[in-house]
Amino acid sequence: MNAYVGTATSRVDGRAKVTGAAKYAGEFTADGLVHGFVVEATIPRGRIARLDTSEALKVTGVLDVLTHAHRPPLADKDEAWKDEVAPDEGSPFRPLYDDSIKFNGQPIALVVAEEWETAKFAATLVRVEYQQEQAFATDLEAGRNKATEVKKPHEPRGDAAGALAGSAVRHEADYFIPTEHHNPMELYATTVVWDGNGRLTVYDKTQGVLNVHKYLCSVFGKKPDEIRVLSPYVGGAFGSGLRPQYQVVLATLAALALKRSVRVVLTRQQMYGLGHRPATIERVGIGAKPDGTLEAVTHEATAITSRYEDFARNDSGWAEQLYKSRNSHYSHKLARLDVSTPCDMRAPGAASGVCALECAMDELALALNLDPIELRLKCYSDRDQSEDLPYTSKQLRECYARGAEAFGWSKRNPAARSMRDDKELVGWGMATGVWEALQMPVAVRIVLSANGHAEVSCAASDIGTGTYTIVAQVAADALGLPIENISVKLADSTLPQAPVEGGSWMAASSAHAVLGAAEDIRQELARLASAMPSSPLAGIDAAEVILVDGTIASNGEKSRAVPITDAMRYGKLERIEKHKLNHFAEDKSHARNTHSAVFAEVKIDEQLGVIRVTRVVSAVAAGRILNTKTGRSQIMGGVVWGIGMALHEETVMDHRFGRIMNANIAEYHFPVNADIHDIDVIFVEERDDRINRLGVKGLGEIGIVGVPAAIANAVYHATGKRIRRFPITLDKLL
Ligand code: MOS
Repeated sequence: MNAYVGTATSRVDGRAKVTGAAKYAGEFTADGLVHGFVVEATIPRGRIARLDTSEALKVTGVLDVLTHAHRPPLADKDEAWKDEVAPDEGSPFRPLYDDSIKFNGQPIALVVAEEWETAKFAATLVRVEYQQEQAFATDLEAGRNKATEVKKPHEPRGDAAGALAGSAVRHEADYFIPTEHHNPMELYATTVVWDGNGRLTVYDKTQGVLNVHKYLCSVFGKKPDEIRVLSPYVGGAFGSGLRPQYQVVLATLAALALKRSVRVVLTRQQMYGLGHRPATIERVGIGAKPDGTLEAVTHEATAITSRYEDFARNDSGWAEQLYKSRNSHYSHKLARLDVSTPCDMRAPGAASGVCALECAMDELALALNLDPIELRLKCYSDRDQSEDLPYTSKQLRECYARGAEAFGWSKRNPAARSMRDDKELVGWGMATGVWEALQMPVAVRIVLSANGHAEVSCAASDIGTGTYTIVAQVAADALGLPIENISVKLADSTLPQAPVEGGSWMAASSAHAVLGAAEDIRQELARLASAMPSSPLAGIDAAEVILVDGTIASNGEKSRAVPITDAMRYGKLERIEKHKLNHFAEDKSHARNTHSAVFAEVKIDEQLGVIRVTRVVSAVAAGRILNTKTGRSQIMGGVVWGIGMALHEETVMDHRFGRIMNANIAEYHFPVNADIHDIDVIFVEERDDRINRLGVKGLGEIGIVGVPAAIANAVYHATGKRIRRFPITLDKLL
C-alpha cells in the first residue's frame, strides 16, 4: 500500500527549484512595477522631531516618500495588528504609524521610485531629527535584575531549592546564549500587484499566507476577497516568516498610496532590524545522590523581549520530560529592552534551554564520575513528570544506544585532554534533544480527474521542509496513483485552510488532511465500481475496497478491480472533488514528544584554538518518517544550525548606541561548507499507534536541539575548558 510513504522520494519541487523556475516573493513582476526602499531609525528609543523628505522627492524617478505623517490610513486598534502568532501580551509594532521610535533599525520612511537603485539613493537624502527623551537599555546582563517573571512553564514539584542545597553532588551555573538573527537565503520580500480595481495580489515571503491575509485585511480595513496572498516558494524561514513582517505592510501601503504595483525587498542589513532568537541567561541547577539519582532540577531562563511585546517561549521546562527528579522548579523571566520583539527561531526555547540543561548534565556527570550516557540512563524518565503522563512513544533509550554505537562512544577515554590527533586535541561530547509532536487543523481539497490525475491543494506553505513532496506521497499512496499523476498547489490564501508552517506540526497535520479527503474519494469510487453493470466489484461493500495501481480493487483479491478512469466514465464524472479538514482525536492521556541523542567530535588546534566539528551523529526518534530523504535533510540542516549556534552565531550590540554592530554576513558568522564535515543521521524505529493514524511526529525542529550542547561538551572533553558563554569562539579557549 505504501509505494511512497516512508521512502526516499525526491522533492517533487526539486526541478523547479534548481532550474530557477520556482518564483519567490521578490521575483514576481507586474506592469508598471515600482520599488520601495526603507529608511531606518538610527536611535533605539525616542521620537521623530522632524522628518524632511524634500531632497529625496527632488530626485528624478522618485514617486513618493511615505512616512507616519504622509500615508494612507492604518488600523488604530491593537487587535487589528495581532496576527495568528503574536504574543498574547503587548501591542504589536506598526510600521510608519506614529513618531515614536521603539528600536534601532525601525522603519521610519519608505522611498518609492521607478527603479530600486533610485529609491535606495534617495533614501540617503531623507533627513531625520530625533528627540531622545528617555534613557534606553539594550543589555540583557545589565538588565537582568529588572527582569520580571512572566510564566511558569510547569508547576513546581516538591522543594527544589531545599533539595538542591541538600544534595550530595550538585552543579549550578549560568549559561549565556546571545541574540541570534535569522539569515535565510531569501530576504524579506513582498511584491504587491495592483489590478486597477483596488484588488491586491500579494506575493509575500511568509510561513503562513492566511495569517498574512487576515492581518492585511484588518490592518487596511479590506474585505477578504479584496486581498489575495501567495507564497508558493520560500527560501528558508524557520520562524522569521511566522509573523507578518513590516515589509508586507509597507509594500501594501505604497500600492494603495500610488495605486500601482510595488515591490519591497529588504537588504540583508535591514533584516537585522526584525525578529531574532532572544538572548537568554539560562540558570540551571541539578542536585544528585552519589549514584546519579537526581534530587532536584531548577531552571530559570531570563530572556530579552521588546518594551512593547512580551515574547516568551518554553526554555526551562524540558528536564520535566527527560530526567526523573522528585523536586523541580522552572521559571521564565523577561527583561524588557529597547529592541525589536524577538521571534521564533528553529526550536524556539528548546534550542537555548536544552543547550544549557545538557551542558549542566555533562558537568554533573563529571562531578559524579559517571559516563554522560550512564547518568542520563540512570535518571531516564518514562513519564512526562509535569502532567505525570506516559508518552505515546519514546525511543530515546534506543537513540542513545544506536547513536553511541555508530559514533564509537565506547572507545572514549573519559579524561579531558586525553585524546589527540597529531597537533589537534580531540573531544567527544554528547547531549539529548527533545521537541514537541504537535498537530493542527489543516484542510485540503483533492480533485481527481477522469484521466487519473489528482490535484491536491492547501494554503499551507512549504518553507523548504518538503511539504509539497510529502503531500504528494501521501496522496499518491492513498489514491493508488503514481506520484507523477499528483500535482500539489500550496500557499495561496484562496485555498483550504492551514495555519502557519511551524512548530514541526505541518507534516502530520497536512498528511492526515490528505488521508481524509482521499478516503472520501475512495468511498465515492467504491460506490461507482459496485454499481457498474457487470463490474467485478458488483455489490461490494465500500469498506472492502482499496485504491491501488490506478484501480478500484477488492482488498482481499486485487485482481478483482476496475480502473478508476472506467468508473468515472461510467458515472459520467469529469472530476471528483473532496474537501476535508483533518481530524485528530482529543487525547490528553499521553505526552507527545520527539527525541534525539546527539554525538559530536571536535578537533581543536592547541596553539590557535581553532575548532572543527569533524563528526556528528544524530539518532532521532520521531515516529514514522514520511520521507527518509527530505527527513534526513531536515536533521542535517538542524545539525548545521546547531554547529552555528555552538561556534559562530552572535548578534553583537554596541550598548552605548543600542545598535547592532554586525548586521551583515561578513561579521555575523554561520557555518559555510568548509565548516561542515561528517553528519550521520539515524532514524530510530519508533512505532506510534496512538498519536495519529500514520504515527507521524514531525522533524523540523528536533534536529537542532542538543547539538550546541554536544559540541560544547566535546570542547570541554578536548580542552578541559568549560565555556558557558556561547558561541564558543577561539578567543575563549586561549
Ligand atoms: Mo518554526 S521556529 O515554528 O518556523
